[in-house]
Amino acid sequence: MADLHYPPPEAYGVLSEGVSQILFSAEEIQARVLELGAAISRDYNGTRPLLIGVLKGVFPFMADLIRAITVPVEVDFMAIASYSSSTREQGFVRLQKDLEEPLNGRHVLFVEDVIDTGLTLSYLLRNLKARGPASLHVCTLFEKPQRRLVNIPIHYKGFDLPDKFVVGYGLDYRELYRNLPYVGLLKPEVFTPGNS
Ligand code: IMP
Ligand code: MG
Repeated sequence: MADLHYPPPEAYGVLSEGVSQILFSAEEIQARVLELGAAISRDYNGTRPLLIGVLKGVFPFMADLIRAITVPVEVDFMAIASYSSSTREQGFVRLQKDLEEPLNGRHVLFVEDVIDTGLTLSYLLRNLKARGPASLHVCTLFEKPQRRLVNIPIHYKGFDLPDKFVVGYGLDYRELYRNLPYVGLLKPEVFTPGNS
């Protein structure tokens, strides 16, 4: 991955114009993903973990992470209906796409793009735990510690984020900005609260 070069930030035109500040460059993200992959490879040595992600935000991270893991892995995805914050606060999310395989006896690693309040993840972890995995751990690229409402043990974490809305590397604002290879703050004039 050291030889991989994305276009420079300004090449992303209207998207880069919406970003006020780059928080993590493509190179910083790639370097951290390699470290996370190495740690996971060590910890899961001799097993065949199942990595589970929630669409769509996690897909670039998942794609890079699995290629940084050297033990055999399987990958599966779930999709949840987009929800209002009030339904989320009740700890409820509706599954739009479920996993393809049962989890009993599997070593499951739940992979997230960003843990914000943690409400979505808390619901999903309860749901997955009920399916009887041999182990269930969490790997997140980003966490917003100041926003956390429920306690969730995080076993692997890339970076902390400030309590601000960020875009790029899979994270969207109204479905755009996912293709930025870096992560940055969205300009306040672009961002309308409640419309994310
Ligand atoms: P929560 O942890 O249940 O509050 O929700 C986490 C989800 O909200 C993440 O998986 C993202 O899809 C989304 N999210 C949270 N913060 C951001 C952000 O700063 N930018 C884009 N999406 C975000
Ligand atoms: Mg997500």
